[in-house]
Amino acid sequence: MSQPKWWQTAIFYQIYPRSFADGNSDGIGDFKGMIEKLDYLQALGVTGLWLSPHFPSPLWDCGYDISDYEAVAPEYGSLENFARFLEGAHARGMKVILDLVLNHTSDQHSWFLESKSSRDNPKADWYVWADTPPNNWQSCFDGPAWTYAPERGQYYYHYFMKQQPDLNWRNPQVKAAMWKAVRFWLDLGVDGFRLDALGTIYEDPAMTPHSVPMTLTELRHFSDNAKTPKERKLAEKYWFDMFKHQWGGPGLHDLMKELRAILDEYPGDRMLVGEDDNIDYMGNGDDELHLVFNFPLMRTDRLTPDWARRNQAERLSRLDTLQTRGWPCNTLGNHDSPRLLNRYGDGVHNLQMARLHLALLLTLRGTPFLYNGEEIGMTDLIITDPSQLRDTMATWYYESLVNELKIEPAEAALRAGTMSRDKNRTPMQWQNAPNGGFCPPGVTPWLPVNPNYAVGVNVADQETDPDSLLNFYRRMIRVRKETPALVAGEYKPIHEKASKYLAFLRFTPEQTVLVALNFSVKPKRLDFSDLGATSAQVIFSSAERTELPLTKADLEPFGILIATL
Ligand code: GLC
Repeated sequence: MSQPKWWQTAIFYQIYPRSFADGNSDGIGDFKGMIEKLDYLQALGVTGLWLSPHFPSPLWDCGYDISDYEAVAPEYGSLENFARFLEGAHARGMKVILDLVLNHTSDQHSWFLESKSSRDNPKADWYVWADTPPNNWQSCFDGPAWTYAPERGQYYYHYFMKQQPDLNWRNPQVKAAMWKAVRFWLDLGVDGFRLDALGTIYEDPAMTPHSVPMTLTELRHFSDNAKTPKERKLAEKYWFDMFKHQWGGPGLHDLMKELRAILDEYPGDRMLVGEDDNIDYMGNGDDELHLVFNFPLMRTDRLTPDWARRNQAERLSRLDTLQTRGWPCNTLGNHDSPRLLNRYGDGVHNLQMARLHLALLLTLRGTPFLYNGEEIGMTDLIITDPSQLRDTMATWYYESLVNELKIEPAEAALRAGTMSRDKNRTPMQWQNAPNGGFCPPGVTPWLPVNPNYAVGVNVADQETDPDSLLNFYRRMIRVRKETPALVAGEYKPIHEKASKYLAFLRFTPEQTVLVALNFSVKPKRLDFSDLGATSAQVIFSSAERTELPLTKADLEPFGILIATL
């Protein structure tokens, strides 16, 4: 492989700005806080930061409803603070990418306020308007996708909340305005963007209605209650069918090419990663997105050797078919998904499994993305008081359950709290101190802090404990960075029939690395004599070992072994 690009060797860390670090003690994260934590991030070893939206927003979707694309939300600081953050990150060898929300704006954005003001204003065609709802499309967050605006006597389309109207990307003025914002941040020196919900930018031009015999509330409720594989399959099919006409419409490839061409005008290999798993959006491998996420890896209740193996076989072979070979991008969680320990744990061995899963993520081929808080093992905090919910789609769900389906309020609250993304967005736990050290005692944080900060789930306690998850993350990140074959090498599965452990090789012409991960609660004695190697040198082992006989490689339950051959 030719000299890898920075975004191929990077280890990314997603910062959720509102919850990361509160520098001015108002209960809300901000740039001052982020700047103060740059040393922490550098010590963790990550080399790329992805910031969830930091723009002004009325917060109907926690910042994914943007009312000004060329500014910083006042509660997070100023552009000046942003510039200092960027400079500080760069000085510590960390690149910074921003969230770019193209599909929709806030309904408080001046573009929308003007667009909805009359049928003939200069921005009248910047959003998607219709005299009457042309179909039964739904918003995936809050019921019907067409909302009436009395000012125009017309309906506008929104894939997400009604406070997030979809832009009309067939209008060249929309493109020009958004590309101006893109250049604004590139000129300031940001290293790229994570493209939000790009699949939803273009809809089916024929406006085909969906055929699912349920309302959105009924479908959510149906999925909540789906227990058998058959029910779950049906729920999945209904979700797909309800929305399949509202994404993936024609036009996206050209749009991505245009955006890519803008980035390529800038020095320093600016980068685009799409919130989508569709490899098609990488174009020929060098003319659309640099990366798309390997979300299929995440879509399971339990990570197993077989699951990972099949996922890799499928993804890597597909990436190989691109004219310029595609680069993988792996993640296990983000601000939209349950915390790793809750999602993939078994309730008994959660911390051992968290280590194993990180080892998997950091030894697979491709750029890894971590989510803030996973390095200390933060867990979901289910909010059962609906008045404390900040994720408005959960508030909407609670109200619909109570009013539309007549579900008991206590049960509805539990359902809403469980589906809410607030549970995995709670403030970062920095210390064993009131509010987890996120903000001072007496200040109310924007979302409740998970009380488990008091039982070791906090940065300060874990920093001083050599066996903590945090120190494991640091070590594992270092191992990855210092092992060229793990960064850039090829991937070759071995022992493909093994159901309890995953073994594979990563190799460059200079180095061959063996990775063995025991996914079971039982110890394993593995025989790697078939590899033809005479000796192996341990790079990382979760169990203490002085030597590694390749015929008797012992792996303890959830054991991790990384060795050069
Ligand atoms: C993406 C974001 C999610 C947001 C949605 C609408 O999926 O990750 O948080 O709600 O887009 O912008």
